Amino acid sequence: FKIRLDEKDPALVNLRKGTSDKDVDYSEGRGSRVRVTGRVHRFRAQKDVLFITLQDGYGLLQCVLTGDLTKTYDALTLTQETSMEMWGEMWEVPPKQHAPDDRELHVDYYEVIGKAAGDKDAITTRVAPDSDPQTLYDNRHLVLRGENSSSVMKVRAATLRAFRQVYESEITPSCLEVTPPCMVQTQVEGGATLFEFNYYGEKAYLTQTSQLYLETCLPSLGNVFCVAPSFRAEKSLTRRHLSEYTHIEAELDFITFDDLLTHLELVMSKVIEIALSDPKTKKAVYDLNPTFQVPERPFMRMRYADAIDWLRKHDIKNEEGQPHEFGDDIAEAAERKMTDIINRPIFLTHFPVAIKAFYMKKDPEDLRVTESVDCLMPGVGEIVGGSMRMDDYEELMAAYVREGIDPKHYYWYTDQRKYGTSPHGGYGLGLERFLAWMCGRYTVRECCLYPRFTNRCTP
Ligand code: 4AD
Repeated sequence: FKIRLDEKDPALVNLRKGTSDKDVDYSEGRGSRVRVTGRVHRFRAQKDVLFITLQDGYGLLQCVLTGDLTKTYDALTLTQETSMEMWGEMWEVPPKQHAPDDRELHVDYYEVIGKAAGDKDAITTRVAPDSDPQTLYDNRHLVLRGENSSSVMKVRAATLRAFRQVYESEITPSCLEVTPPCMVQTQVEGGATLFEFNYYGEKAYLTQTSQLYLETCLPSLGNVFCVAPSFRAEKSLTRRHLSEYTHIEAELDFITFDDLLTHLELVMSKVIEIALSDPKTKKAVYDLNPTFQVPERPFMRMRYADAIDWLRKHDIKNEEGQPHEFGDDIAEAAERKMTDIINRPIFLTHFPVAIKAFYMKKDPEDLRVTESVDCLMPGVGEIVGGSMRMDDYEELMAAYVREGIDPKHYYWYTDQRKYGTSPHGGYGLGLERFLAWMCGRYTVRECCLYPRFTNRCTP
């Protein structure tokens, strides 16, 4: 909670220097006279006492109003979400009573700053968890005021911080952050999910991935990463597909496929470790997802061909209701069933050439398959897709033809194979899927501020 020590107040008692909340120690009982601002999260009236839990984005604070303070017009007509300013003394909560952070503000003066509407449209009725999902999405701006939604956003921020820390200082060699463009004229992950728009009279797209741009950075910047939106015009409404998502991508130079897998499990494990090392984030994660299991390294590795055998053995059928065959795309439902049964992170590797992107390198020992990996997590399924990249010029040219791509627009990418090619690879991780797994959310839509998905671009 953001607490202001009110130095100008003549009634000031016991002022301790230190301006931020965590620098002030209230454990000795009667503490400082302070001023706080926030919104009414909830309130409860007892005979002559009004308990108001104030929220300000930094935390919750129980504020206790007594005597005449409970009898004012403002107090008697108090509504949830009203913004207020309060003055008083901070105390430890009496034994056997509970309040956030075990403290409460004994209020001696307050002012209402902005009274919240308390009519039938009040926040609680609009954002009740059992509301129709569309109502919740329409009112996302109010839903975000709730404890669960705001907790997920705080875990999201901590996770992003952790990714940056890991890339910059927890791995060797480190990765440099770059910011590739979102408006592009190339398609990378298939034409079917492209958002097209008119760019000064030319055809352009919203980026599906920054991968090709990251590859161009390797020669002069070394290993690189980016955190950028990716856009997919997904036709199907599933709980793990968004039209706009936050894509964390990295590209590593002079590596083997095995290096790529080792790097990936290290990054994910360190991100979790760092995020959970912050007590507030840890509490938020376990409040949201009490059974969250920190993954153990090494992650299980399973070749695509073995996954097909596994699915056949477990009688999990493909989308046509038939037993899986080598060459089938493993659909979302089958993938999730498998991941949930195995119940630990899986690196699914070596997908057939025909079902993977044009730029993927073939496995030199089995040219039917690629050096590719999907990382699958219980409850969500695929959260990462990566591969080694085709590093031979002629092979890449042939791949464009196979994919029906005009190489003209890709000259800047193809040049990488002409001017000092190298064995390299990388991956993209969907942040919302990572969070859905970590925070135990049913859908990725709960893991971003304002979700964009089929037919929803508001609020
Ligand atoms: O597997 P994808 O399509 O791979 C790529 O885009 C590569 N070019 C990345 C790379 O190698 N640099 O997407 C990567 C990840 C998926 O594993 C998933 O987590 C996420 O991006 N993703 C989505 N997340 C939410 N909504 C969607 N529609 C998503 N599509 C992909």
